[in-house]
This record gives sequence, C-alpha cells and structure tokens, in this order.
Amino acid sequence: MLTSLTIAVLAAALPADALVRKDGVGRLPALGWNSWNAFGCDVNASAILTAANDIVSLGLKDLGYEYVNIDDCWSVEGVRNTTTQRIIPNPTTFPDGISGVAAQVHALGLKIGIYSSAGETTCAGYPASLGYEKVDAEAFSDWGIDYLKYDNCGVPSNWTDKYNACVPDGDIGTNPNGTCPDLTDPAPPEYDWAKSNTSIRYDRMRDALLEQSRTILFSLCDWGNAAVNTWGKETGNSWRMSGDITAEWSRIAQIANENSFLMNYVEFWGHPDPDMLEVGNGNLTVEENRAHFALWAIMKSPLIIGTTLNKLSADNLATIKNKYLLDFHQDPVYGRPAYPYKWGYNPDWTFDPEHPAEYWSGPSSTMKGTLVLMLNTEDSTATRTAVWNEIPELMGHDSYRVTDAWSGKDLGCVHKKHSVSLKSHDVSVLLVKGKC
Ligand SMILES: *[C@@H]1O[C@H](CO)[C@@H](O)[C@H](O)[C@H]1NC(C)=O
Ligand SMILES: *[C@@H]1O[C@H](CO)[C@@H](O)[C@H](O)[C@H]1NC(C)=O
Ligand SMILES: *[C@@H]1O[C@H](CO)[C@@H](O)[C@H](O)[C@H]1NC(C)=O
Ligand SMILES: *[C@@H]1O[C@H](CO)[C@@H](O)[C@H](O)[C@H]1NC(C)=O
Ligand SMILES: *[C@@H]1O[C@H](CO)[C@@H](O)[C@H](O)[C@H]1NC(C)=O
Ligand SMILES: *[C@@H]1O[C@H](CO)[C@@H](O)[C@H](O)[C@H]1NC(C)=O
Repeated sequence: MLTSLTIAVLAAALPADALVRKDGVGRLPALGWNSWNAFGCDVNASAILTAANDIVSLGLKDLGYEYVNIDDCWSVEGVRNTTTQRIIPNPTTFPDGISGVAAQVHALGLKIGIYSSAGETTCAGYPASLGYEKVDAEAFSDWGIDYLKYDNCGVPSNWTDKYNACVPDGDIGTNPNGTCPDLTDPAPPEYDWAKSNTSIRYDRMRDALLEQSRTILFSLCDWGNAAVNTWGKETGNSWRMSGDITAEWSRIAQIANENSFLMNYVEFWGHPDPDMLEVGNGNLTVEENRAHFALWAIMKSPLIIGTTLNKLSADNLATIKNKYLLDFHQDPVYGRPAYPYKWGYNPDWTFDPEHPAEYWSGPSSTMKGTLVLMLNTEDSTATRTAVWNEIPELMGHDSYRVTDAWSGKDLGCVHKKHSVSLKSHDVSVLLVKGKC
C-alpha cells in the first residue's frame, strides 16, 4: 500500500535530471550475470545458455537476478556487414546469432545484455559503436537485447577531453587521499564535465537507445573518467566509478573505499557501479567473498555475478542468495544506500584503499528495520561493536530486536550494543528491528 509518507519519499528521492525509463527499468540497481570475470574472451552461446539455465535452477531467478550479459568478444573482428553496416555476430561461437541466444534466454523468463564501446574498437579489438550508434542500437533492439554495457576503449585521438579529471584509482597523477594534487591540465572549478567529449560519446548511444522500441538498460563503463559521477545519471542507469575489479581482496577493498565516498550519488534511477562481482573467483576466502557481496549490496551497486555458476561452492551460493541483503538492495521505497556512520579502523572520512569504512547503516522498508554492517579490514581476527547510539537510524533508544543476516538467527532483545569477533576481511550484517 502506498501511504502518503511513501509517496513523499518517492517524490523527494527522484532527481529531476535522472534518466527515467519505461517499466521501471534502471530504477533499482540491476541484478544479473556477465561472462567477463568467468570466461573473458572465451565466450560462446552455450556458455551463455548454461549460465541462464543455472540462474533458473539455482533459484537465483526467483530472487530477482534477471540479466544474462554477454561481454566482449562476441563478434567478427575487423569488419561490419557491408550491406547493413551492422556488427556481425561470430558465426562459430554464436551459430544462431545474438538473436538466437536472446530468444532462448527470454524463453527462460530472463533478459539478455550485450557489450560495446564508445570508441572504434572494443577493449579486445572488435568493432565498436562510436559513429555507428544508431546502426548498433537498432541491431541490438532487433536482436532482443535488454541491457548494454558500454566500455571506453578504442577512442580516437580527436575525441580526447580538453582537460584531465581526477580519477579515484590514480591512473592520472598521484592521489594519496582521493585527490589529485599533481594533475596536469585540470579543468577550471566551474567546468561542466557533462559537455566533455567523453560525456558526448556516451550521450550519443543513450540517444540512439532511447529511439528504439525496446527498453535497453544503459550501463556506462568509462572507469570513473571525466567526472562521470556528475553526469552519469543523466546519461545512463549506472556508471562505472573505477577501473576494473580483480579477484583480490586488496582491489575489492580499494574500490569499496573509493565508492564509499560516492554514496550521495546513489538514488533511484542512478547507480555508481564499482564493477561486477568476483564472488567465487580467484583465491578469495569465504569471508572475503561475503564481505565483497555485502558491501556491493548495501552500496546499491549493480550486482552482476561474474563466476561459473555451476562451480560455485555452497557457501558462496548462499552468499549471493542472501535474502536480507537482496531485500535491502531492491528496496522499492528507499532509493538511498547504506552510508558509513563510522570508519572504525581510521578516523571518519579517511581515504584509505586498504581500510575502507567499517561501519554502515541504512533503512529497509520491506524488512521494517535498519540494516547494520560491520567489517574487519584488518589482516587478523578482531572485534567490532555496533553501538545503537552511534547509528543515525537507531539513536535515542536502548534496546532493539536483532537478527543475524548470515545465519538468520534471532539474537533476541539486544541492549545498547552488539559485539562480534570477525575473522580477517569478514563482515557481520544485522537486521535491527523494533524497539524492545
Ligand atoms: C564455450 O565456452 C566455454 C567457456 O569458456 C568453454 O568451456 C566451452 O568449451 C566452449 N564451448 C565451445 C563449443 O566452444
Ligand atoms: C549482411 O546483411 C544481409 C542483410 O541482412 C544478410 O543477408 C547477410 O547475410 C549479412 N552478411 C553477413 C556476413 O552477416
Ligand atoms: C573535443 O575534441 C575536439 C576535437 O579534437 C576538440 O577540438 C574539442 O576542444 C574537444 N572538446 C572538449 C569539450 O573537450
Ligand atoms: C573526430 O573525427 C571524426 C571523423 O572525421 C568526426 O566524425 C568526429 O566528429 C570528430 N570528433 C570530434 C570530437 O570532433
Ligand atoms: C591530499 O594530499 C595532498 C598531497 O599529499 C595534500 O596537498 C592535500 O592537502 C590532501 N588533501 C586532503 C583533503 O587531505
Ligand atoms: C591462488 O593461490 C595460488 C597459491 O598461492 C596461486 O598459485 C594462484 O596463482 C592464485 N590464483 C589466483 C587466481 O590468484
């Protein structure tokens, strides 16, 4: 039921300049799977259909995972169709074309995504869409595509930006604290990055997609360049805020630290994207996998699984199926994410790639409570304590009913605070409910 309070929240939460799409597409952060972190360029129709079938059989579809996304390397290198100018699906790896795979994915009740770049070639060197935005958007629509990841490779030199922007990963200049003191050619303070050549390259594809009859979610991937946080939500449904993730805790912590400073940009229809999930990949521990997933979920990042689903361990499968985190992530009333309320290891607002904020909280309308997350960023076991009176949503009352989101265990009526011993890089996630 929509109460007047709910309507007030919805209205207040809607940024005037967001890219609002039909049928609520892009209103909430996306849930799905993508081929890249699992297979890289070794992608083919059968790998895509296996993933789609696994999403159904593992119960992920029932939890809302819906997009099955083909990343780079799906086409024929170096040519376009001389008649239609379209990109040609690789006839060996995609014998029924992209439309054939799309039809089978749709038959499972799922949606399908594809990949291109705002340049002349993709990152792996295949034809990309700069200058062919209309042709490609029309082809994607004809093929039944529902989601486009749009990368930043193959950019010709005459599309370079006039100025440099500070990027959080520090590819340009050095940024010990998230600023770029050594940046050359910085933009003047009043510069509008929405008018930059980078922004224009992405606008062109947005406009071409908006002309199509299909609603195609637009996922920008400019790696945090050109101050994309300031214009991303006018252009796309989500925008990558950093360079690529890897299946290493140090990289996951680094991106979490960067994204933690961008939480004011998260709202309905607009989501900074800290890149796809690595849950199940590399040598991440069970604790690191669940910390990665929980942080991405509470930051309301797109949750795009990037592993071979039928090889996922029971622990990691349980992690990506966690009902409390998915409910929080898909909240229909609160567009805002969890915010850090205390850094913990560091003084508040410290930019530290190894030790991101450790204490987070945010409201849930569906669970009628507050989700609280505690993270141990240290390399050994340590205790973390949630103190009700430090948490904005809980201040002013002493006792709350608490549920542990990993075990589902009711911890009863908890007075003033809750302490946990956490292994290295583990998280505790609590649902804190009514007063008691
Ligand atoms: C399809 O791709 C998967 C994942 O890389 C690979 O294991 C499989 O051998 C490929 N199948 C064919 C027919 O090439
Ligand atoms: C190019 O497009 C035409 C028209 O749709 C089609 O008949 C032809 O098979 C395509 N060529 C290739 C190489 O895909
Ligand atoms: C975009 O690129 C063109 C051609 O290289 C250049 O003249 C122009 O200054 C650039 N515009 C911006 C806003 O950076
Ligand atoms: C770069 O050159 C291409 C080809 O001449 C042109 O279409 C495009 O508009 C140029 N880009 C800019 C930013 O001027
Ligand atoms: C960030 O680091 C630079 C260079 O070390 C320093 O000049 C600047 O004051 C620092 N900024 C903040 C906000 O700490
Ligand atoms: C995992 O750890 C093993 C042993 O330390 C190492 O050889 C391997 O390269 C690691 N794999 C990845 C993907 O990091």
